[in-house]
Amino acid sequence: MDLRAILKKPARFAIGLMSGTSCDGVDAALVRIKGTGRNLHLKFIDATTIPYPLPLRNRLLNQRMSVTDACLLNFELGERFAEAVLEMLQVAKKENLTVDFVASHGHTIAHVPPRGHQASGTLQIGESAVMAERTGLPVVSDFRPRDMAAGGQGAPLAPYADWALFHRSDRVTLCLNIGGIANVTVVPPEFPDVFAFDTGPGNMIIDDTVGLLTRGTQRMDIDGVKAAKGTPIPEFLDYLLGHRYFSLKPPKSTGREEFGAEVYLRDALANRRDHSYEDLLATVTAAVGDSIIDAIERFVKPNHIPTHCVVSGGGAHNITLLDHLRGGLPGLAVNTSDEYGIPSDAREAVAFAILGNETLFGTSANVPAATGAGRPVVLGKITPGGGASTPPAKSGRPKLPALRAD
Ligand SMILES: Nc1ncnc2c1ncn2[C@@H]1O[C@H](COP(=O)(O)OP(=O)(O)O)[C@@H](O)[C@H]1O
Ligand SMILES: [Mg+2]
Repeated sequence: MDLRAILKKPARFAIGLMSGTSCDGVDAALVRIKGTGRNLHLKFIDATTIPYPLPLRNRLLNQRMSVTDACLLNFELGERFAEAVLEMLQVAKKENLTVDFVASHGHTIAHVPPRGHQASGTLQIGESAVMAERTGLPVVSDFRPRDMAAGGQGAPLAPYADWALFHRSDRVTLCLNIGGIANVTVVPPEFPDVFAFDTGPGNMIIDDTVGLLTRGTQRMDIDGVKAAKGTPIPEFLDYLLGHRYFSLKPPKSTGREEFGAEVYLRDALANRRDHSYEDLLATVTAAVGDSIIDAIERFVKPNHIPTHCVVSGGGAHNITLLDHLRGGLPGLAVNTSDEYGIPSDAREAVAFAILGNETLFGTSANVPAATGAGRPVVLGKITPGGGASTPPAKSGRPKLPALRAD
């Protein structure tokens, strides 16, 4: 179906894809979307996560990734993403639905937002041509570069979707996504008042602490159980909360460049070996919670009176972190997005389905107040669909010498 025909349909079925900084896997969400802009309505249908095997995760996390590694990973992730799409297409088939398009955030391998006069750029991989070829569907991808070309940080991009999903005429809601990085969107009744920023690290520093202290044998503090058994160490908490990012005024965004294990945690943990695993995890978890609470107090409450906080992302499973947030945010009803009909693990994939829909309609979907962009812009690039093929067999391929691409 050509793109004009898709736009004429009363409702579109879309598959959103997200691979976040946690490098845990790719999330896919199947949704129905009606309309665009103010009149957009979304129904969640189903979601899945395809976890990355450890070797793939390690390659994505490799700080010294070569250009060739990035080139190969781009296609490899394209295949993984296509698998997630094909899984959602099975669900659509059972439900007798015809999916119209895929919208993929991709996986960020470098994100350097503008700071002063320094050079900036962003790079997401997960080749959309591979997805289009495997699934036959048009793919909208590469959402961040246009916002950055317009002077923005290229992040956060979920605010548009948060507003579309959660705005109410009688309240201000906070949408808090705790992925590798944590970000908050202030969702007031009117779209021009939407405001958002990255509060700082989320699960990333909890996962990194687990990884470093268990020598890589474990990946996460499941449900925050270990942190619940420990007591935060005051001077370590002060060190963690002393990072300059926390006092920067929004708009701001961050990533592994500032809070990755090498720069933020490795030495700090090595110097505190005499403390227990539980106390160290309790401290890092408290730092995530305190940095979120502090960001809301400092940058949100002076201008807004939020009453509800909708939590999503993998951090919504961390009971210790949620308890910490509830304790530090009295007066706010803190619930997970599951209670609003969007599974917490699917919320970002859902957001990109919404952004892809807006790309097709030519509706601008960045929030300049959140990204710092000079103007509203239409985000994303479109790879046409049509025809589908299975991956070429690996064996039997002629072995060609590596050529330089001129
Ligand atoms: N049951 C759980 N208990 C605690 N943390 C969890 C649980 N499930 C997922 N997580 C955390 O959520 C992370 C993944 O969150 P996600 O929202 O996918 O982040 P990202 O968008 O950065 O990939 C995992 O790395 C882990 O830290
Ligand atoms: Mg993830």
